[in-house]
Amino acid sequence: MRALKLSPEQVHSGSLILVNRDYDYKEPSFALNGNAGTEALSLLDGHPVLLKRRAAVLFTGLMDEIGGWPQIVPVSGYRTLKEQTDIWNRSLAEYGQAFTKAYVALPGHSEHQTGLAIDLGIKKKEIDFLRPDFPDSGICRMFKKKAPQYGFIHRYPSGRENITGINHEPWHFRYVGTPHGEIMEREGLTLEEYIFFLRDFPHGKRPYLFTQGKRPIAVSWLKARRNEGTWLSVDDGLPYSVSGDNVDGFIITEWRDGYVS
Ligand code: DAL
Ligand code: ZN
Repeated sequence: MRALKLSPEQVHSGSLILVNRDYDYKEPSFALNGNAGTEALSLLDGHPVLLKRRAAVLFTGLMDEIGGWPQIVPVSGYRTLKEQTDIWNRSLAEYGQAFTKAYVALPGHSEHQTGLAIDLGIKKKEIDFLRPDFPDSGICRMFKKKAPQYGFIHRYPSGRENITGINHEPWHFRYVGTPHGEIMEREGLTLEEYIFFLRDFPHGKRPYLFTQGKRPIAVSWLKARRNEGTWLSVDDGLPYSVSGDNVDGFIITEWRDGYVS
C-alpha cells in the first residue's frame, strides 16, 4: 500500500468535478498559463476546438469508432471565463434573460471552462452556436449510445432540468472518465446525483463495485480535510485514479486484480 497526500486545491480539479449553478469552476492556482487546470489542452484534429488532453483522446477514439467525422461537427469546447462572459452577454442582448438562463451557464459556472465539455452539431450549412442541431437519430444517436463507454455523458437530459439547472441540451457532452459514464447510465443518474450518490461509498469501507469486461473496479468517496490535506491509501501495484468532486471530497477509482466470472 502507498499513502498519498492530496492538497485542498485538488478538490477542484479532475475529470469528475461538478460545475453548475451551485458550484463554480475554481481555476487551480497552480494552473499553467492558458491551460484549464493541471492538464494540458489539446486541439481536436482539424477543428478550432480545445479539450483537456485525455478528453480529446477519448473523444477522438469514439468519433473514429463510429466514423463520425464527416457528419458530426465539434462546435464549442474549452472556453475562457472571458469567452463565457461574452457568450452570456451576447445571448442576453439577443434573446433575453429567460433564454439565457435556460441555455447558458453563468460565467464562472460553465463546464466549458473546465475543458471537459463539448457541444456537437450535425453538419449543415448554418450551425446555431448556442443550440446546435443534434438529432436523436442516425450518427448522432450512435454517438450518444457509445459515449458512456468512452467516458462521456449526455449532461443535460430532458426531465432533469430542475436537477441540472439547464434546459435539455442534446448537443452538450461532458467527459467524466471511465467507468463513471457507464455507472451513471446504469444507475440513471445525472452528474449532480452521482456526485452525492458516491458519498454512500466511503473509501476503505464500502466501495461501489463495477465490472468492465471482467475486470472489477471499485469506486469510492473520500472526504477532504480542509486545511491540512487528505491522506489517501492505495494499492500501488494496481492502477487507480483520483478526481476532486469540486464540493468537498475526492472520488477514488481503483482497478482491482483478478476477474469476475
Ligand atoms: N450551455 C451550457 C450550459 C454552458 O453554457 O456551459
Ligand atoms: Zn455546451
